Amino acid sequence: MTAGLLEAPTADWVHLADLYQNPFPIFERLRSESPVAWVPEAGRYLITSYSGVLAADVDQTTFSANEKKSLMLRAMGHSMLRKDDPDHQVERRAWQPSLKPGTVKKVWKQKFAENADRYLDAYIDAGSGSDFMQGFAAPFVAENLRALIGFENASEADLQRWSQTLIDGAGNYPDDPDVWAKAKQSSDEIDAALEEMIQWHSGRPGDSLLSYLLRSADYQMPLESIRSNIKMTIGGGLNEPRDVLGVSTLALLSSSKQLELVLRDPKLWGAVFEESIRWVAPIGMVPRQTVVDTELDGYFIPRGAKLGLCILSANRDRSVWSDPDRFDIERGSEAHLAFGKGVHVCLGAWAARSQVADVGLPALFSRLKGLRLDPNQEATHGGWVFRGPLSLPLVWDKAVRSELA
Ligand code: HEM
Repeated sequence: MTAGLLEAPTADWVHLADLYQNPFPIFERLRSESPVAWVPEAGRYLITSYSGVLAADVDQTTFSANEKKSLMLRAMGHSMLRKDDPDHQVERRAWQPSLKPGTVKKVWKQKFAENADRYLDAYIDAGSGSDFMQGFAAPFVAENLRALIGFENASEADLQRWSQTLIDGAGNYPDDPDVWAKAKQSSDEIDAALEEMIQWHSGRPGDSLLSYLLRSADYQMPLESIRSNIKMTIGGGLNEPRDVLGVSTLALLSSSKQLELVLRDPKLWGAVFEESIRWVAPIGMVPRQTVVDTELDGYFIPRGAKLGLCILSANRDRSVWSDPDRFDIERGSEAHLAFGKGVHVCLGAWAARSQVADVGLPALFSRLKGLRLDPNQEATHGGWVFRGPLSLPLVWDKAVRSELA
């Protein structure tokens, strides 16, 4: 160990089941006792301070994304998310055209608005008291993602099933054979659907991810990489916007002051989005592995160590935000780390902002009059690697159906 550096303590009091239920008090204690700690149940050093998470995220030469024996590799293949530059950069560039802000504004926002109309009608049909997550948030964002990727031969239900089973595979630390079987089944279904779509998109130029990718003049991505990057995008592009819709709806319905602010000034929907992902980061933890002996926040970390950068925790660090557990759309949340800050910074950020802040939330609050939390059914929450509401029952007095209906 290098002189002058602290030894990271073992935090054997941290249990994954408790993290899943409510990670915030555990993270608070870790940040105050030791923001770099070895957590045996996670098999990782958990990094919980804002400064530590940021420093590791922006230094890929020391903190590699190419983690050895990552379960994500087995579930989805070797996508750009688990590569370092220059290999990562080549694939990332090819993924950008359909997700960049101009394309989102010009093409996708309208598509998202049509989908919001359609899935809000379906939610209204399900009736006051039904679950917002399954009734609107999940099918709405799954249909958006289906269109963005260009899966003309799949349904939103396919996207939901694929996404969940692949994520379950990537987190299958107990090595449950049933979880592997379901992930493999989805992986095979995606490969088959992709094969058909590669044919379909040739000669039909469009704005979808697959369409841009397949007609690129300067780079032909190998099939294996297309497959793994599509699986990673399905695993990573669905539950996060879904969970932000749930978290922001819950937060606004829990504070009449915050809700009044945004209803009076619709320009604040963007602030609602940013504060929601600061408050509950949908991707709570991202893995990294050290390439050399190094340090973070003054703690020694050996070469080859597996780390968990805990974004959920960093976003509530008191050294950056006052009263961080409070949801406050006036605080200025932009420094949050929810999209990452390094070379892997989220490619879908503009699509996520558009479907949630420009379209989904304004439509929900304008069409469901007297919207409130169901007093007879509690919302449920879970997760620390990914976190969001599991169920969110809502009630309303009157619903306005879309003009399409
Ligand atoms: C609020 C919603 C979202 C959040 C909070 C989020 C968060 C993140 C984070 C933290 C990363 C970096 C992970 C790491 O470094 O290991 C990431 C990467 C990525 N995200 Fe998102 N994401 C969101 C929505 C989306 C959507 C809707 C899409 C696609 C339509 C998407 C596509 C991607 C891709 C392709 C990457 C990999 C980028 C790279 O490796 O260079 N994300 N996202």
